[in-house]
Amino acid sequence: MIIKTIKKKKTWKNKKVLLRLDLNVPIKNGKVLDDFKIKASLDTINYLLKQKANIIILSHLGRPEKVDKNYSLTPIAKRLKELIGEDINLVSSISEAKKHSWSQGTLLMLENLRFFSQEEKNLSVFAKNLASLASVYVNDALAVSHRKHASIDKIKDYLPAYAGILLEKELNNFSYVLKPKKPLVLVMGGIKISTKAALLKNFEKKADYILLGGGLANTFLYSQGYEIGNSVFEKDGKKYISKLKEKQKIILPVDLLVKTRSGSVALRDVDKVRKTDIVCDIGPKTIVNFCKILQKSKTIIWNGPMGKFEEKSFKHGTLTLAIAIATLKDKAFSLLGGGETIKALEMSKMESQVNWVSTGGGAMLSYLSGEDMPGLKKIVK
Ligand code: 3PG
Repeated sequence: MIIKTIKKKKTWKNKKVLLRLDLNVPIKNGKVLDDFKIKASLDTINYLLKQKANIIILSHLGRPEKVDKNYSLTPIAKRLKELIGEDINLVSSISEAKKHSWSQGTLLMLENLRFFSQEEKNLSVFAKNLASLASVYVNDALAVSHRKHASIDKIKDYLPAYAGILLEKELNNFSYVLKPKKPLVLVMGGIKISTKAALLKNFEKKADYILLGGGLANTFLYSQGYEIGNSVFEKDGKKYISKLKEKQKIILPVDLLVKTRSGSVALRDVDKVRKTDIVCDIGPKTIVNFCKILQKSKTIIWNGPMGKFEEKSFKHGTLTLAIAIATLKDKAFSLLGGGETIKALEMSKMESQVNWVSTGGGAMLSYLSGEDMPGLKKIVK
């Protein structure tokens, strides 16, 4: 893999750079709740500033269908300003950006790209208009590189394109799991098998063990005829499961923590779940099984929690796995991704103890599934 990174360009001095970031972070009451993705973007911003470039930051936030002040990038610009200690001017339109007077080290941010209906339509006219603001384009937004949007895809028809430092790191870390040291253990949880089926398919040969929890495990258990009560699962999950050829690698829970009809918490063996139960976590025997398998690994990929870890009674499965993976840091390369997985990792205070925490949720799944990545074209060979 050859990545055309920003370090390969000789001079950035006085260049106007369109820098596509993924600053899609949770916001409440005008405050950034989690700045993980903002901090992850700092290396590229600081590098370009040091090289005396002028930067126009582009990002989306949420999925607004029209201009909506609840989705303004204002809180993000504020947080970024605190982190880099430089002024950032937030402009609401391309024409406003054009009118801006430039001096060395200018830092502009264009309002939420999704306020512009042409962005998600990947329209050339919009890409061209964006491109008219600068002479170079940098993609540092792995997390949205699976989208065919104008600021990710079409823009590269109009400007020379480079990869930012975060994108480069993401891709290098992904390459370790695509050519893994064995044994490789894939840990998958979360709600929907439909969003993870492609990854399971792509890794079923490479992986030595596939540990499943959460709604994913429920769907497998349901397809095998187990009672799963009122738990989250996908009724048509069988169509994905039937495509898997190496089912012997899949390790399912043997016991589960459930919420009973009365709202109390009960531990059940997998064949003792009742019609009125809701499965909310993996049980202790499963945790021990999973940890024993993880201990044999040399490479670990983890995406998706084992249950409703936000609830006190059901956090143990997910958080214990986070700790188990963290303790293996020097023995097994671990790559984690997905909003919920990162939240669980933060709750366990183990962020610094895993090898790579990807900023990509859906994009990480797409890349590791071997799907098309419009954001990487012309940047990665
Ligand atoms: C993410 O948070 O996964 C990315 O920002 C992509 O967002 P999207 O799914 O709304 O395109």
